[in-house]
Formats: sequence, C-alpha cells, structure tokens
Amino acid sequence: MDKLVITGGKPLKGTIAVSGAKNSALPILFATILSDQPCKLENVPNVVDIQTTLKLLSNLGISCEWNKSLCTIQAKTLTNTEAPYDLVRTMRASVLCLGPILARMGKARVSLPGGCSIGARPVNLHLMALEKMGAEITLESGYIDAKVKKLRGAEITFEKISVGATEHTMMSAVLAEGTTVIHNAALEPEITDLANFLRAMGAKIEGDGTPTITIQGVTQLHGCSHSVIGDRIEAGTYLIAAAGNKNSDVTVTQINPAHIKALLDKLKDTGAIVEVQKQGNAGAVRVIAPSTVQSVDISTQPYPGFPTDMQAQFMALLCLAKGRSVVTENIFENRFMHVAELMRLGAQITIEGKTAVINGSENHLHGATVMATDLRASACLVIAGLAANGTTQIRRIYHLDRGYQKMEEKLKALGAHIHREKESQ
Ligand code: UD1
Repeated sequence: MDKLVITGGKPLKGTIAVSGAKNSALPILFATILSDQPCKLENVPNVVDIQTTLKLLSNLGISCEWNKSLCTIQAKTLTNTEAPYDLVRTMRASVLCLGPILARMGKARVSLPGGCSIGARPVNLHLMALEKMGAEITLESGYIDAKVKKLRGAEITFEKISVGATEHTMMSAVLAEGTTVIHNAALEPEITDLANFLRAMGAKIEGDGTPTITIQGVTQLHGCSHSVIGDRIEAGTYLIAAAGNKNSDVTVTQINPAHIKALLDKLKDTGAIVEVQKQGNAGAVRVIAPSTVQSVDISTQPYPGFPTDMQAQFMALLCLAKGRSVVTENIFENRFMHVAELMRLGAQITIEGKTAVINGSENHLHGATVMATDLRASACLVIAGLAANGTTQIRRIYHLDRGYQKMEEKLKALGAHIHREKESQ
C-alpha cells in the first residue's frame, strides 16, 4: 500500500492539463456493450476505476485495447452475461453494465453493489426504470438477475435526481422498442457527454441537459469515435488547492469552465481571483490565491448546484478561512468522513446532521498522519496537507488512485513538495 508525504506551505504556480472525466468515461465504456462494432474513445483517464471497468468488459468477452488515453472497445459477441462480485464490489458504477447487457442479450446477472463509506447508495431507481421497460428482476444471493424478451419504451419519473439512474436508463432505452421519456433526469455534463456518445452510435436522444430526456429506440447501433470531456472534479480540486496556498497562481486547461461555474462563484467569494481564459470543452481557468481566505457557506445540490464531489476539497479550504463557514451536504447521508481527519490536522469543525460548521483560521492546519477514507476525501486531505505547516502523511491513497491520474506528478509540476512512499506494514 502506498502513502503520500507532503511538506506544506509551498506556493503552487503553473499550468496543468486535466485528464478526461472518470465519471463520463465509465458510463460511456459500459455503453460500448450496445454495439458489435468498434468504438474509439479518446481522453480516457488512466485511473483504477477505468482499469476495473476494462477488466469487467474483458470478462464479458469484449475486446479492449488501451493505448495512452485512447481506448478501442469492440463488443463483437458477449461470451458471458454476468458481472461478478469481485469486480463490482470495488466500484459501484459497475451496476451500469446491467442495462446494456440486458438490452443486448436479453438476460444479465450483476452483483449488487452494496453500500459504501459515503452512504447506502441504493440502486432502486435503476431497477424501477428497467422494470418499467419490461425487465423481470429478481434479487437473490446478492445478485441482480434480469431478463426480458425485448425492452420497451416507457414513461419514467424519478422521485429523486440520480446521475447513475439517468445514465443507466438512457443506455437501456436506446435499443428498446418505442419511446422512453425520463422525467426529473439529472442535468450533469456527464449525462450530455454520454448522450453525445450514444448519438454518435446512431441513438435518437433529445433533451439531455434538461429534466426531460426523450429516447426513441432504434434497432441497432454502430461503432463511432468520441472524445471524453475534461474532468470537472479534477480541475476543481487543483483550483481549490491553488486558492488555499498563499502566492499561488494556477491555470487548468482542457476543461469546460461552464461545468465548474458553481465552484468558480464560491472561489470568488473566498477572495480568490478567478479568470476564465478560454470557454468551451478545451477551455482554461486561472485562479490566484487570496491573501486572506474569506469564509463562505456551501450547500451541495445536483448540477448545476455545488457538487457533492467537491464538498470535501472545499471544506479543506474553509479550514483556512477567516471566520465561520457552514457546509451542508444534501446528496449523501454520510459524506463527512474527512472531518475527523481534517481535525487531526488541527481544523476546528463541528458536525450536526448534514451540516458541518468550520471555524477557520489561516494558521490552523499543521502536519500529521491521516487516513484517506474515500476518493474525494483523499483529495481533501491532499489540499489540507499542501496548506498545512510541516509534514503530512496520507495513508490508504488507493482511494485517490481510483479517480485522479498522476496527481502527485501534476502537483509537483506546480511546485508542491509531495511524493509517494511504500507503507511499511
Ligand atoms: C454519481 C457520481 C458520483 C457523485 C454522484 C452525485 C459517477 C460514477 N459517480 O454517483 O461521483 O457523487 O453522482 O453527483 O458518476 N439514489 C437512490 N436510489 C438510486 C440511485 C441513487 O436513492 O437508485 C440516491 C443516492 O443514494 C444519493 C442520490 O440518489 O443520495 C444521488 O445519487 P446518484 O446521483 O445516483 O449518484 P451516483 O450516480 O451513484
């Protein structure tokens, strides 16, 4: 097991290109199951969750080639219709293979993903949508068993906004008989990226990026080429790190600034100078750290609100702010695991239900040994370590490797004192 060792207090300066979005690449990779022709995906990040997805696809008999950031996938035939526990347990998004396997083969068996450290994360909405489309679903021995002669279009209303359930339903509906309408759909940029990919395969989808998505089923899909959007959470993580280190001046490129507007607005409220240098998917944003970070309240919401995936990182910044900030987590019930670790670094935080109150001070954080508990919590600890006085060791960074490509190399290029070491057991 590896750990990260950081000596804090160094200004971050320079430009880094963000990698492709993990959360976009994952559903798109699962959507390649829908065609027997080759799909070429560019800008696929080399992170552990993508490696897990490719293992899962290979296990279904699908050919996967990966060269740098280019993946070529061809699901000519599926020799297997099961996603086993060992592959699903490490990554909840694996459940997204259920609908595509079912649409293609008429049956699928996928291990139930279970809970994770940030909350119970049920898949009831995913299964409800498939049942509405005619699938017969049984849950037995920890597996979801689904079968159907042919999925058919349906009106599906989600009682709660879910990114995964929206993606899963879109992928399941593209080859269904008739029209599917998804009401109360998620609006995240990753939904639109998936829709663009599916359209490139010949799917008929309208309304992605709005709460109502309409999908007209087609009889078959063909191969295509697609470039995955830049990772808004990765971009945000580096920009927050810049705001937290005095005299820092960081530009991130290959990111659509519109995708991180909620974050940029809050960064401005902390006193950081935020400059959008280039719009569009290959855009660029520069952040110059404030001399004193001002306290700010944040409340997580589905897109276009402040993302839950940036809550932990932003909290690290608020530990350094002058005065009291309130963070409200509305998406996941247990997403304050990083608080105890931030407190080990000297932060003053109290939690009440879904609210955390942070009493910040620019001198609060000092180096300590801390434990990464989940992916974004790990990024939060890196940001805190970069700003803390002294040396911080972050253990269990396999969580970080699930979603950040070459994080320490990118931070080193900005001037951070950070390196990876093997843990002595
Ligand atoms: C995705 C992201 C994750 C992000 C989250 C919210 C990927 C691979 N992961 O996760 O990084 O934190 O969106 O932006 O893209 N829910 C149900 N029943 C369901 C499905 C979800 O009750 O069937 C609940 C969840 O427990 C949660 C809320 O809905 O409280 C939102 O979750 P959802 O949007 O589905 O998150 P994911 O798609 O799993």
